[in-house]
Amino acid sequence: MQDFPLAIFFSGNGSNMQNLYEKLHHKEFMGMRLCVCAVLCNNENAFGIERAKALGAPCLVVSHRHKTRQEFETQILQALAPFAPKLCILAGFMRILSPLFLQHYAAINIHPSILPLFKGANAIVESFESPMKVAGVSVHWVSKELDSGAIIDQAAFHRKETPTFESFEQKIHALEYDLYPNAVLQALKQSFLKADME
Ligand code: GRF
Repeated sequence: MQDFPLAIFFSGNGSNMQNLYEKLHHKEFMGMRLCVCAVLCNNENAFGIERAKALGAPCLVVSHRHKTRQEFETQILQALAPFAPKLCILAGFMRILSPLFLQHYAAINIHPSILPLFKGANAIVESFESPMKVAGVSVHWVSKELDSGAIIDQAAFHRKETPTFESFEQKIHALEYDLYPNAVLQALKQSFLKADME
């Protein structure tokens, strides 16, 4: 059975990276064996690096510091090249990727709000402080505009279940862990179907 290589990018805690690895690595899907060939982190102090070591996942650390976006992305491209991932899965990766990167790799991202609401880095706080009665998470294709590519899937909950910020944040993460692995499979299906039609 042929391996289908995936890369997972993260910047900090890495809990989504770990969850994705545990649920997808060596899973059979549509006649292939999914394989997390590498994980990549832009922050050498990230706790997720320890998680990657414990999982036995090859971990590429490419710092963005003191580099232009172009230099940073060129280094990521060089680091990834030997692994040839067919999809990059952003999981708490806190850097914007430009067309320089996106012309080489398809990427998807998870965002902790019901997009298109609350784009950007403060989504959980903004969504908690909003008057909305529901909140949730979204998985989307990465495009050159921040948090704006086509939505692959979403999950939502009623706010009355989570009165405190801590419980709200916990619920968001629990939804992420449920949604993201399945959304990756949906994204793969979409791209296989597109490739079949081309
Ligand atoms: C997640 O809430 C993700 O949606 C957001 O950053 C957080 C990352 O958490 N973009 P972790 O590093 O996966 O624990």
